[in-house]
Amino acid sequence: MMKVQAVGVIGAGLMGSGIAQVAAESGYKVVLRDIDLQYVDRGLKSISKNLNRDVEKGRRTREEAEAVLKRLTGTTEMEALSGCDFVIEAAVEKIDLKKAIFRELGAICKPGVMLASNTSGLSITEIAASSNRPAKVIGMHFFNPVPVMKLVELIKGAETDQETVDTAAVLVESFGKEAIFVQEAPLFAVNRILVPMLNEAMFVLMEGIASAEDIDKGMRLGANHPIGPLALSDLVGLDTLLFVSETLYQETGDSKYRPCPLLRKLVRAGHLGRKSGRGFYIY
Ligand code: CAA
Ligand code: NAD
Repeated sequence: MMKVQAVGVIGAGLMGSGIAQVAAESGYKVVLRDIDLQYVDRGLKSISKNLNRDVEKGRRTREEAEAVLKRLTGTTEMEALSGCDFVIEAAVEKIDLKKAIFRELGAICKPGVMLASNTSGLSITEIAASSNRPAKVIGMHFFNPVPVMKLVELIKGAETDQETVDTAAVLVESFGKEAIFVQEAPLFAVNRILVPMLNEAMFVLMEGIASAEDIDKGMRLGANHPIGPLALSDLVGLDTLLFVSETLYQETGDSKYRPCPLLRKLVRAGHLGRKSGRGFYIY
């Protein structure tokens, strides 16, 4: 099995920064790449903030936090990933963008280097086919917020080989996470269940059945969810949620999965949830 020492992460947004943090905390050298320095800096700042909180809460020493930060390199250069031996892509949830990234990674990374996508539900087979090594590509689906959530779904594409699955499973374990193995299907397993529930909550709001606060209170107190579905949608990011909902609707052709028009309207208005300061709630 491949021994991983340096992990590359593409995309320094909500998920990429979390994955980079967890990888660096687990002792790996990490190269974090985004398209613009302001996004790289924002990702690194959010990691620093989380580490500082750990120090303040006595969960790690200042020296340990500094050692984690030292293992992290932020960059806008794709070539900086050429020394990595496992790369995890967490860029925007658009199939054409992901295919372009995997094409580029195929050209830059050494042969045998494994490439993973943190896609929420796009086809791993399609993403893999755009690289020059489909056998070495896998779906590695983390959950938000990455430093807190214990699960990673592992998804094989049509060509993914067993060495890649085994290496990804060892990596997930070394990150202190637990893997489940899921067949390729639109939205895999967890989002296939979760996303229609979030979408339904938006219809309940749009139809005037209950207020946002009461919908969320209902699901917290009535179903024991840690936060309500509208607050969770704001945490995920409404743009991401719309991309993911569209994948489920388009891939299945089933009208029961049509994205709620209210979601579309909020995204069109630029209200993307917590990350833009406003979604179903104002932050
Ligand atoms: N990064 C690091 N740590 C974070 C964090 C973040 N972004 N957000 C919260 N935390 C930590 C906090 O530091 C806090 O720990 P301490 O108090 O010990 O320092 C702890 O989590 C609890 O946070 P809060 O008290 O602020 O808030 P909370 O009690 O509501 O917990 C939560 C936060 C863990 C996120 C909780 O609300 C929760 O579990 N929500 C549901 C999350 C969920 O369902 N995620 C899946 C989304 S779907 C997905 O990811 C897939 C996809 O493809 C879209
Ligand atoms: P985000 O909008 O917070 O961040 C995406 C980042 O990707 C941005 O910083 C953007 O500048 C960057 N980016 C765009 N093109 C790039 C490129 N060519 N190279 C490098 N970086 C590029 O989104 P996110 O929530 O972090 O989602 C990232 C991926 O993770 C998506 O595929 C999403 O579906 C998946 N995901 C999201 C969640 C969630 O709850 N938000 C959970 C699991 C999986």
